[in-house]
Amino acid sequence: MGTILDGVAIATAIKQEVAEDVKALAARGVRPGLAAVLVGNVPASEIYVRSKVNTCAELGLYSDLITPPADVTTEAMLELVAQLNGRDDIDGILIQLPLPKQVDTKALLNAVDPDKDVDGFHPVNAGRLQAGWPALAPCTPAGVMEILKRSGIPVSGQHAVVVGRSDIVGKPAAMLLLHKNATVTICHSKTRDLEAITSDADILVAAIGRAGFITPAMVKPGATLIDVGINRITTREEFDRFFKGDLRREETFAKRGSTIVGDIDPHAFEVAGAYTPVPGGVGPLTIAMLMANTVRAAKMRRGL
Ligand SMILES: NC(=O)c1ccc[n+]([C@@H]2O[C@H](COP(=O)([O-])OP(=O)(O)OC[C@H]3O[C@@H](n4cnc5c(N)ncnc54)[C@H](OP(=O)(O)O)[C@@H]3O)[C@@H](O)[C@H]2O)c1
Repeated sequence: MGTILDGVAIATAIKQEVAEDVKALAARGVRPGLAAVLVGNVPASEIYVRSKVNTCAELGLYSDLITPPADVTTEAMLELVAQLNGRDDIDGILIQLPLPKQVDTKALLNAVDPDKDVDGFHPVNAGRLQAGWPALAPCTPAGVMEILKRSGIPVSGQHAVVVGRSDIVGKPAAMLLLHKNATVTICHSKTRDLEAITSDADILVAAIGRAGFITPAMVKPGATLIDVGINRITTREEFDRFFKGDLRREETFAKRGSTIVGDIDPHAFEVAGAYTPVPGGVGPLTIAMLMANTVRAAKMRRGL
């Protein structure tokens, strides 16, 4: 079994550093603030946003939870974003996705002031990231880099293979790895002979959205496996495929009728040099990096 890369411990360390930063800023009369916009009543979104707002309170950041109704229009949302762009007490604007169908998500994300875009989704930030300029990077890939750095995993000169090319995970992860001098290959659903590529990876990042998609045969022994995927499985067949004999999982599965698996088949962790578990790997970093980005935005906006 490879070494576990403990995302909870790394996220805790980052949050402590953020809290210290917030204290230092308070001494200068600055309190970083996050506006969290939660539209309608999507249960998963409510849970995510609540934990983001709670983490702000825990670390001493100001937060404002704004909850437009599910039938809100694009125009009303654009007006809200314009107000938040203009507010001096708000350094970061988070619009929880997905939005209802009638709202033009792209138009909205493009309307966020890039300097307050703590999710790093604005094309200006994507451009800054590509150009290697100071940028607010998307939280999940930024978290992946923190895991590698803080675990002492070498990146320079390594072959990093990223499976997935979404704007929020795959592409920015590839760009961040490239900036740290990895030799990067990006794979996607049209990639030919995926296994030949993944099994040459020193660092394999899976951001696919398919339960246990990366099998042991697709992994080079000793590789570092970073599993971004979060997939809920509910059938006994799937459970047995990934977790047969795992008594702790069995307990959760019996209690909740489901469990979470990443995009990497957990059996592949047996051949890895190091790996992020699911849950408890990349997931906890996302909120920690959102907090770090908000403090960074507060500093950048004030030239601190
Ligand atoms: N830990 C966290 O905090 C966090 C944050 C965000 C996302 N996630 C999780 O990460 C996963 C990926 O998220 P996402 O938003 O990046 O997903 P996404 O937008 O659906 O992108 C999935 C990517 O996987 C590729 N893909 C799909 N099937 C494939 C196949 N058979 N072979 C090779 N590539 C394939 C797709 O290729 P094409 O482009 O060709 O379609 C696409 O680029 C999901 O499980 C999500 O829940 C976790």
